Amino acid sequence: MTLKNGSFLTLLDYSAEEIEYLLDLAAALKAQKKAGIPHRVCEGKNVALIFEKTSTRTRCAFEVAAADLGMHPVYLDPSASQIGKKESIADTARVLGRMFDGIEYRGYGQERVEALAKYSGVPVWNGLTNEYHPTQVLADMLTVREHFGSVRGKKLVFMGDARYNMASSLMIGCAKLGMDFTACAPQKYFPPKDLIAKCEAIAAVSGAHLCFETDPSAAVQGAHVIYTDVWVSMGEDESVWKTRINDLEPYRVTREIMAIAGVQCRFMHCLPAFHDLETGIGLDIYQKFGLTCMEVENEVFEGESSIVFDEAENRMHTIKAVMAATLAEGLQAAIQA
Ligand code: CP
Ligand code: NVA
Repeated sequence: MTLKNGSFLTLLDYSAEEIEYLLDLAAALKAQKKAGIPHRVCEGKNVALIFEKTSTRTRCAFEVAAADLGMHPVYLDPSASQIGKKESIADTARVLGRMFDGIEYRGYGQERVEALAKYSGVPVWNGLTNEYHPTQVLADMLTVREHFGSVRGKKLVFMGDARYNMASSLMIGCAKLGMDFTACAPQKYFPPKDLIAKCEAIAAVSGAHLCFETDPSAAVQGAHVIYTDVWVSMGEDESVWKTRINDLEPYRVTREIMAIAGVQCRFMHCLPAFHDLETGIGLDIYQKFGLTCMEVENEVFEGESSIVFDEAENRMHTIKAVMAATLAEGLQAAIQA
């Protein structure tokens, strides 16, 4: 298996075998890290990390992973660079492609990360766009594998705004890997129809079942994972909060919902999460609408079924696998050594 020189833009471009290879590689690199075994398989390379939206996990995962692989990461904040204002993506890509061995991009439309890949001539990794968040799903799948032994045949229910990057990428990942996927939301928050059609064709091969359900109690029966995300994503206007709260409150992950799913069920969230009043936005929403939590109750977030911090840690191991797979020479031999 070689993914060398490839980009990682959406899981749609990767076969189930390639995704499983990345998960195996991430698990091997994680074990090496825990054992204190160095794995500087990309020694001397340089990577650019472009963030047009804010980040804690993704940025730190790329920076730590790059350092562990022996690389030098350069963080580019659009407010302090020419990107978008004075220089197009195509021009930026051609400049960065001359200096860097790989480029990470977090920002708005998927077409921006596609253009970077097209014009830079080096591997480009999607660190989140409006449409997809593929590195997050790799971390999620590794976490599911660690907690349940395998992904195939397990059931993941996504509750909340299922039109956006997280639900779309989870649906693709599940369809590819044979994991049952249910989107539980009001009908107008279901994933885009064209993506559902693509995923149904993929699921027909893998054996995954895709389901779209408006009733939370019916959706979560027998779920292994209940997953949620913020109700308003980065880049959306603040004015949407009122409607979003009205529409999505019945889809909050509560203790009752976890109990209906059963004791086997684990709670997952890509983070950041609004589960208490310890954030600026959380407090603002409380003052305006009286809510003490949004997409998940604090008792679920902090409860025994919650595996959100295992998931967050796995961002680093899986992002490392993506960079190593697309950049390192002689990777297989280096990892087995
Ligand atoms: N889950 C995730 O992408 O987190 P950040 O926004 O902190 O990178
Ligand atoms: N849907 C969220 C995911 C954050 C990791 C957003 O795009 O803001």
